[in-house]
Amino acid sequence: MNVALLASGKGSNVENILCYFRNHSKIKIALVGSNNPKSGALIYANNYSVPTLEFSKKELETTTILLSTLNNHDIDLIVLAGFLLKIPESFIDSFKGKIVNIHPSLLPKYGGKGMYGDHIHKTVLSNNEKTTGITFHYVNENYDEGKIIAQFPVFLEENETLSSLKGKISQLEWSKYPFIIERLCNE
Ligand code: GRF
Repeated sequence: MNVALLASGKGSNVENILCYFRNHSKIKIALVGSNNPKSGALIYANNYSVPTLEFSKKELETTTILLSTLNNHDIDLIVLAGFLLKIPESFIDSFKGKIVNIHPSLLPKYGGKGMYGDHIHKTVLSNNEKTTGITFHYVNENYDEGKIIAQFPVFLEENETLSSLKGKISQLEWSKYPFIIERLCNE
């Protein structure tokens, strides 16, 4: 099975996934793509000698550069890890049920347009939530609305801060995403 990772930001999930699958007998991370030339994901991919593709928002929307690169690498599953652009509908048709995303809240809470990164956690904290978490879901044409694959909770302490909460969320994401990918590849 060939897996492509798409990311726009820091790329800590990409690094963790690359590390987990580096000697895997059945699953290969065959491509890392990013719309952000400064994304850590591209650096990590280079460190693991995984091919990369950089593309602009415009290229994603108006060309087939990403779709044809995915096809050239025989990609079976697309894994989004902090990928901030909307996936074009043509993709969703070509990779039906083969695109997975991670979202750092318990969807449908704190999902949708504008709900990404620190915005989510700040809103969770200001609403005095006792519980938040992470959601793995399939990607469809609407932000954060695809079928849920799995959810895991994070419990907030009285004195929880943005940075402590982000740390807990990241730890949980790193511990779960590789197993979700394995599960989807075995389906
Ligand atoms: C993660 O919190 C993920 O849930 C969200 O974006 C963040 C990406 O972090 N979709 P990183 O770039 O993998 O460090």
